[in-house]
Amino acid sequence: MTETATTVRKPILYSGIQPSGNITLGNYIGAIRNFTLLEKDYDCLFAIVDLHALTVRQDPAALRRNTAELTALYIASGLDPVKNIVYCQSHVPQHAELTWILSCFTYMGELNRMTQYKEKSAQHTDNINAGLFTYPVLMAADILLYQTNVVPVGGDQKQHLEITRDIAQRFNGVYGNVFVVPEAYIPKETARIMSLSDPTRKMSKSDPEDSLISLLDDAAAVRRKIRRAVTDSEAEILFDPEKKPGVSNLLSICAAMTGTTPETVTASFQGMGYGELKEATAEAVIAGITPIQERYKELVSDKTYISGILKSNAERARALAQRTLGKAQKKLGLYQI
Ligand code: TRP
Repeated sequence: MTETATTVRKPILYSGIQPSGNITLGNYIGAIRNFTLLEKDYDCLFAIVDLHALTVRQDPAALRRNTAELTALYIASGLDPVKNIVYCQSHVPQHAELTWILSCFTYMGELNRMTQYKEKSAQHTDNINAGLFTYPVLMAADILLYQTNVVPVGGDQKQHLEITRDIAQRFNGVYGNVFVVPEAYIPKETARIMSLSDPTRKMSKSDPEDSLISLLDDAAAVRRKIRRAVTDSEAEILFDPEKKPGVSNLLSICAAMTGTTPETVTASFQGMGYGELKEATAEAVIAGITPIQERYKELVSDKTYISGILKSNAERARALAQRTLGKAQKKLGLYQI
């Protein structure tokens, strides 16, 4: 007797990342590494959001390269591009189309209140373009096109998920249930990796080179950066992110890379000094990222493979996106042929 395929659909998880280079150890530990665990419980889409990247000037060659590199790095980090849909936003024209529609359901006042817009427009006073302003609408389109149930969001993107929900509810309120209203996905306790030079701030890919570890750093760079990481003037190894942010950050990194807890690492370093902790942390990082780098190098040099993945996944994404876009267009009264 053949078992009937009771295809229980898994909830849909959507995540987007800009192809702006320099994936950090923080991105890896806090997000990418956990993607492989998500594919069990969710149908996942991981988008390389190149259209969002256009809100600041991009060097065309660098943008193209960063897109291929991010694809390779995702896969090298363990993401399965067949189980998951790893695709590039600009390959799915439905994103731009739905953005227009949703922008007619978004108020200027709402967009004006977005913290990221206020910050970015203060930073880039020479290029406050309309795309920067409507950035959250494109993000809403990304999410809503796929009937997304959950979106893993860090603190800086919470507001964008909120406005996505508001737009979806507003549209549904008029036209019926066209969009699933997405929820935030709160990951089960992942370590927050902080800057090496200022451990009270999150490690960020736009920070100076020496305050971050790139997933593609070689062993010498990892050792040098960790050796120079800010600690404190005491000598005791204690896990206390409030009082000892630098040392605690090293403990978190070491624990994440060896698959244990900061408390266990702390216990194993009793009686030892910061130098020894730094050395062990550097070696743990190197051991963890070296195999990823080796796999990455193979993949990124294989243009045919990368393009093939992006092409087949774009097709899968387009089919899903078109279903939602078509439904919205029909409800709106756009003439169907
Ligand atoms: N705005 C997000 C960021 O900068 C990237 C992003 C674009 C995104 N579209 C998304 C994240 C959809 C989650 C879901 O981090």
